Amino acid sequence: MTTNFLIDSYSEFLPIDGDTSRKSLGEGNTPLVRSTNIGPEIGVPNLYFKLETMNPTGSFKDRGMFLAVAKAVQANSRSVICASTGNTSAAASAYASLHGLKSFVVVPSGKIAMGKLAQASVHGASIIQIRGSFDNALNIVREISDQLQIALVNSVNPFRLEGQKTAAFEVVDALGKAPDILCIPVGNAGNISAYWKGFKEYAAAGRASKTPMMYGFQAQGAAPIVNNKIIENPETIATAIRIGNPASWEKAASARDESGGVIDSVSDDEILHAYRYLASAEGIFCEPASAASVAGLIKTSRLGVDLSGATIVCVITGHGLKDPDTALSVEAVQYEVDPTIEAVGEILSS
Ligand code: F0G
Repeated sequence: MTTNFLIDSYSEFLPIDGDTSRKSLGEGNTPLVRSTNIGPEIGVPNLYFKLETMNPTGSFKDRGMFLAVAKAVQANSRSVICASTGNTSAAASAYASLHGLKSFVVVPSGKIAMGKLAQASVHGASIIQIRGSFDNALNIVREISDQLQIALVNSVNPFRLEGQKTAAFEVVDALGKAPDILCIPVGNAGNISAYWKGFKEYAAAGRASKTPMMYGFQAQGAAPIVNNKIIENPETIATAIRIGNPASWEKAASARDESGGVIDSVSDDEILHAYRYLASAEGIFCEPASAASVAGLIKTSRLGVDLSGATIVCVITGHGLKDPDTALSVEAVQYEVDPTIEAVGEILSS
């Protein structure tokens, strides 16, 4: 029985000391599952999915949030604040509850998937919806956290990336080596930066003999890094990555360049195709933003790149249950009939 898996496993890589809280919701230690169908079908026989959906609030954010909130407690903060497209707010409010802190979340009005709002609500966050974008929200919380001395728990808080880098350690531990390529969605660009930091640190410590190429994917309507310019009005069905001016832009560009990787974009149609493909061919239910990693890999394989010898990991960042509206917009096979054996039987035999 571990008390805090990430601290128990990786303490020498984490900025913790004897006064850092070890309270945990069971974050980390997520499965790396081998693709059964998609990999072979797209010419990537050694394809794996890192199921970050299995974290306690259903996304990778928990890895960094456990540490960011523990550090806020250590610094005597009484409350935390974040801007969010949804998942950060769910994680921040859950860990604030765990530690008895207040949480304030600032989100773009009408652009948050319903499950994520439900999470922030049930954990008792004060939810401030702004008539603006995530980028506006982040600017506001950066200012206000300074003025009011509330702990900022967006990924500009270095402890977030320190916690999130543990996912790279787990990937190496599970495979017994670093993958050749890591495919990952990019929004505010913290996660790709955290993975890259983790892979580099593990290699430097002799725990892996190399680092992977980082393949990041933005949504076409929210692709500032790909286009090398700030997008004032980002738009995509993948609301989690609807971001026009990522905070970790420079770090993500370095991860791309140092690793010999790419940051490319995928259209909403490609994202939705991958979203349904994961659900129907693998049994994996993720949110649209997460499917960007698989959409990007499919796009790469279609360009004719030979990936048959490569070990590739796609990060599945958030759970599909968070966004029931998108799930229900997929044409479902549904019937409504009288409650009789005959009526149900008729459908089965038609
Ligand atoms: N996937 C999901 C499900 C996300 O929620 C996010 C970011 C990303 C990918 C992109 O990660 O920002 O580190 O590049 N969500 C943030 C939030 C912005 O507020 O929940 P990133």
